[in-house]
Amino acid sequence: MINYFDPRNDIDLGTPERVSEVQVSLVIDGRSISVPGGTSVMRAAAMLGTSIPKLCATDSLEAFGSCRLCMVEIDGMRGYPASCTTPVSEGMVVRTQTPRLADLRRNVMELYISDHPLDCLTCSANGNCELQSVAGQVGLREVRYGYDGANHLSEQKDVSNPYFDYEPSKCIVCSRCVRACEEIQGTFALTITGRGFDSRVAAAGGDDFLSSECVSCGACVQACPTATLSEKSLVQLGQPERAVITTCAYCGVGCSFRAEMKGEQLVRMVPDKNGGANHGHACVKGRFAWGYATHPDRITKPMIRKRLEDPWQEVSWDEAVTYAASEFRRIQLKYGRDSIGGITSSRCTNEEAYLVQKLVRTAFGNNNVDTCARVCHSPTGYGLKQTLGESAGTQSFDSVMQADVVLVIGANPTDAHPVFGSQLKRRLRQGARLIVIDPRRIDLVDSPHARAELHLQLRPGTNVAMLNALAHVIVTEGLLAQRFVDARCEPEDFARWRDFVAQPDNAPDVLGPVCGVPAEQIRAAARLYATGGNAAIYYGLGVTEHSQGSTAVMGIANLAMATGNIGREGVGVNPLRGQNNVQGSCDMGSFPHELPGYRHISHESVRAEFEQAWGVTLQPDPGLRIPNMFEAALDGSFKALYCQGEDIAQSDPNTQHVTAALLAMECVVVQDIFLNETAKFAHVFLPGSSFLEKDGTFTNAERRISRVRKVMEPLAGKADWEATVALAGALGYPMQYRHPSEIMDEIARLTPTFRRVSYAELDRHGSLQWPCNDAAPDGTPTMHIDQFVRGKGRFMLTGYVPTDEKVNGRYPLLLTTGRILSQYNVGAQTRRTDNVAWHDEDRLEIHPSDAESRGIGDGDWVGIGSRSGQSVLRARVSGRVAPGVVYTTFHFPESGANVITTDNSDWATNCPEYKVTAVEVAKVFQPSEWQKRYQRFSDEQRRLLKERRQAEAAEVRR
Ligand code: SF4
Ligand code: SF4
Ligand code: SF4
Ligand code: FES
Repeated sequence: MINYFDPRNDIDLGTPERVSEVQVSLVIDGRSISVPGGTSVMRAAAMLGTSIPKLCATDSLEAFGSCRLCMVEIDGMRGYPASCTTPVSEGMVVRTQTPRLADLRRNVMELYISDHPLDCLTCSANGNCELQSVAGQVGLREVRYGYDGANHLSEQKDVSNPYFDYEPSKCIVCSRCVRACEEIQGTFALTITGRGFDSRVAAAGGDDFLSSECVSCGACVQACPTATLSEKSLVQLGQPERAVITTCAYCGVGCSFRAEMKGEQLVRMVPDKNGGANHGHACVKGRFAWGYATHPDRITKPMIRKRLEDPWQEVSWDEAVTYAASEFRRIQLKYGRDSIGGITSSRCTNEEAYLVQKLVRTAFGNNNVDTCARVCHSPTGYGLKQTLGESAGTQSFDSVMQADVVLVIGANPTDAHPVFGSQLKRRLRQGARLIVIDPRRIDLVDSPHARAELHLQLRPGTNVAMLNALAHVIVTEGLLAQRFVDARCEPEDFARWRDFVAQPDNAPDVLGPVCGVPAEQIRAAARLYATGGNAAIYYGLGVTEHSQGSTAVMGIANLAMATGNIGREGVGVNPLRGQNNVQGSCDMGSFPHELPGYRHISHESVRAEFEQAWGVTLQPDPGLRIPNMFEAALDGSFKALYCQGEDIAQSDPNTQHVTAALLAMECVVVQDIFLNETAKFAHVFLPGSSFLEKDGTFTNAERRISRVRKVMEPLAGKADWEATVALAGALGYPMQYRHPSEIMDEIARLTPTFRRVSYAELDRHGSLQWPCNDAAPDGTPTMHIDQFVRGKGRFMLTGYVPTDEKVNGRYPLLLTTGRILSQYNVGAQTRRTDNVAWHDEDRLEIHPSDAESRGIGDGDWVGIGSRSGQSVLRARVSGRVAPGVVYTTFHFPESGANVITTDNSDWATNCPEYKVTAVEVAKVFQPSEWQKRYQRFSDEQRRLLKERRQAEAAEVRR
């Protein structure tokens, strides 16, 4: 018998789960069951294994009661109540199958079918259509009403969305799509227009789906019980044959998916309703934008070349790794042990990041390893370690459903972490109150049925001033959680901090003008955060990517401790991590000063443990960070780099500085799925594998370790971890792993917070949140419950130091950067999908008054210049930014957003100050000099790649 309580089964119980302390007993078709109060009769029956016919109900949506197929008989109740909208009551006696019910259901079904095309054999949903199944379930054998009367059979299809079609002739107007858009996604893009016979689904705000307010999350497609809303891939490829549960490789939400396959062909990605982070929801990237994985631009053969001007030469894996290893050794012999290093990837698996840092520390013999977290969340690691004792967020995403007040600072969840954004909006619709602190009017400030009570639109670069002003109000107005502080925090550090923030210099009246925010708004925000019940802070790169990024993170932790908002559900400090595995790559020892589990390389006992396991002597001093590698390359002491799955030439600040450093190296080894911007400077190219081609794990922003499962063979013949193993072997440090599970076993042995993690345990639990060890064998959803990881929480002083990057007459505007929903990071993946339908270029947002004073109109080409460089993009005139502030994304290399950003960085971690660059903007008519050079160089590199491809084709013909 199927265990309906097993969270891993995928059965639709008809209506959502209810949580209640009261258990209610009833009898259904002669069988007894007890369920939580508030459960529907339909769900109770399904839990007994009795499937009541239904069309408008599904367990991801609140019951609606429109189709009338689910009627039942209940003793003492008149008529035939709908089981989906009828809650259970004590002693209830229900019959779900009687001759009368069967007749009624057949009649209802007959009406549906009489206005439905009977082209089942050629329909994309054939074999997986709820309408078809229910027709069979109710025993419909004939339809007495013909097609002669009015019907909807000739309605036109809407095929405008690149990923799904809307075929209204098949619509049964069950409203599941409308409700999915409202309840799950929170976009409210769909409505039912017209009444009765004229009812139809319409996407609001446009003539068709593509031009409407729809953000293409696909929740409606998943909810639709017919083929009305269908994935185009399903229409083209037919029904899948098998499914594999895996994890999205885009953002730090870490959604779980069923990859539905037909042979080696991926048919569609369906969010897994048992996914701990996403509960069956997804966004346009994870659900639909996977076509890049088999894009013709994929490079599947290793390549080498002596000089960047040479054509690529295709070689075997053996030749490629042997050549790379010999170059690394030659360079070390000539320039010294520390002249080479590696970069781990936050897009690759934990196991792969672990192996790269292990290779650097063992085979390279130094600690010159770093990761892209350097340029995003390294201040989170530092700031939270200093204050709380652990370099990670404190909560589960689900915790937000217990929050009464949510403070979002420097984050844009609906674009960058969309599934969490939807969950947050759900909580706001339930009544939680929202404070947004951001220089830009992000969607959350004013979205349908979810509004920010306060939007503190601060000037870029003033987060620390804002946090100090908030703290000042909390301290001086007696809003401290003194009992919590006395019990849980270091008293001396607290007293020092309290006296510091209480100083008049930190008052809103003083710092409000610095931030450009009225003092009264700051006071209101502080009072709401401190006194509004459970208060949770969510923050992103708008906090970390500053010269005081680490200070701001510590300021956030101070606020949470001062108000007692930490250590339980509904509160906490929640960094929204950018890339899919940025938490994991940090956990795995990717930083030059830390071994896996954030243990400092200088600690002798820690080193001894790894030395024994790895059979080498480890260097005791931290190695080079990424910016130090660039500096060292330019001064001639750093000559070779192994870069796995990271595009530093596009993602790191001050592009011209980065590319100069790459040009100064003698051997750059890039491992990637595409010839990315960095690979254009490479001497060895090792073809990478997409997340569909390998086994492993990712760790999301809530410390959730989830399995990545191979659904197809690696196109290049090796998964990334196998390539690293081969390279280590060629360097004379053989690694013996038959499967990534063995790498995880080694990680677990050597990392206290991972001690109980294994593939078997992950399979058993679905996913696990670290720490997962003997003290917490089922993982740790909420951290710091009884005490902080460091023992007592530590308040840190957070003096505000204005950034050196200042506006002046020459550069009077401040540029800040961010992301957009449809594109991801450097865009290498999403630019190669139909997501370009929504965003095919980076635009510069500029306030109407700044645009007008410069004669700039919407869509005009504008030159943007900073102290670092110039670029040209098109303008979007928008009131989302305040006067004096401009904003852009960085998804397209040719827009050169990082040509403009400077190499100012966080004082503690070197995280670049992407969010504050003084610029001037002017209308122009031609590309910048950098863009012309970039175009010439890129064209040349593409030509060299093309020559290699032509040679390969000629070889095949011979
Ligand atoms: S795809 Fe998502 S946003 Fe668009 S209509 Fe469907 S549920 Fe709404
Ligand atoms: S499109 Fe699908 S989900 Fe929406 S009303 Fe029609 S049948 Fe129901
Ligand atoms: S991109 Fe993020 S929110 Fe979207 S499906 Fe993937 S993990 Fe989920
Ligand atoms: S399933 Fe209950 S009324 Fe439609």
